[in-house]
Amino acid sequence: MTDVAVLVGSLRRESINRKLALALGKLAAPRLNFRIVELGDVPMYNDDLFPNVPEAVLRMKREIETADAVLFVTPEYNRSFPAVLKNAIDWGTRPYGQNAFSAKPGGLVGTSPGGTGAAAGQNHLKSVLNVVDVVLMGQPEVYLVWKAEDFTEDGTIRNDHTREFLQRYIDRFVKWIERTSEPKTSAQA
Ligand code: FNR
Repeated sequence: MTDVAVLVGSLRRESINRKLALALGKLAAPRLNFRIVELGDVPMYNDDLFPNVPEAVLRMKREIETADAVLFVTPEYNRSFPAVLKNAIDWGTRPYGQNAFSAKPGGLVGTSPGGTGAAAGQNHLKSVLNVVDVVLMGQPEVYLVWKAEDFTEDGTIRNDHTREFLQRYIDRFVKWIERTSEPKTSAQA
């Protein structure tokens, strides 16, 4: 089973990006096992916390490090991506030399009720993910304009066109992970 650590850039219960993550996870199973990494209890990044790193930070880093791949599902806030994701990325890359994202195959999607489907937010995030050494899949792009009626609460997609579009994304992501994964050592296998 290929484990994917899923980082959703919204903390709210009714998040449409969380719903998108859930729907993608259903399309991906059983080839990929989506594990949403909870970010709500991770404090704001502060170097001074290092002598006694908060448990939430250690847990978050462990969940990323032990995954085979990462998937970012982001809203767009003021034409960028939310601070909750930047905070997770900043913690994930420190202490220097212990970057949890290094060489991880990665994907990036997002949704917004607005007509641009979180495109600007995703493109800001893309530039950061490249810097932190996520091996990011460039195509297809998912700039999804959210239509609530297309999704059920449990992540079933009602609209055929949307389901096929997202299925194509997942199929490519499965291949991307296979192609770009570094070979596991015998201890990891
Ligand atoms: C937004 N929203 C938004 N939408 C958009 O398409 N472009 C934008 O720049 C913004 N800016 C923005 C800023 C802030 C602070 C908030 C709270 C919201 C609207 C946003 O897309 C909408 O609230 C989504 O529902 C957020 O995603 P989640 O939380 O539902 O996953």
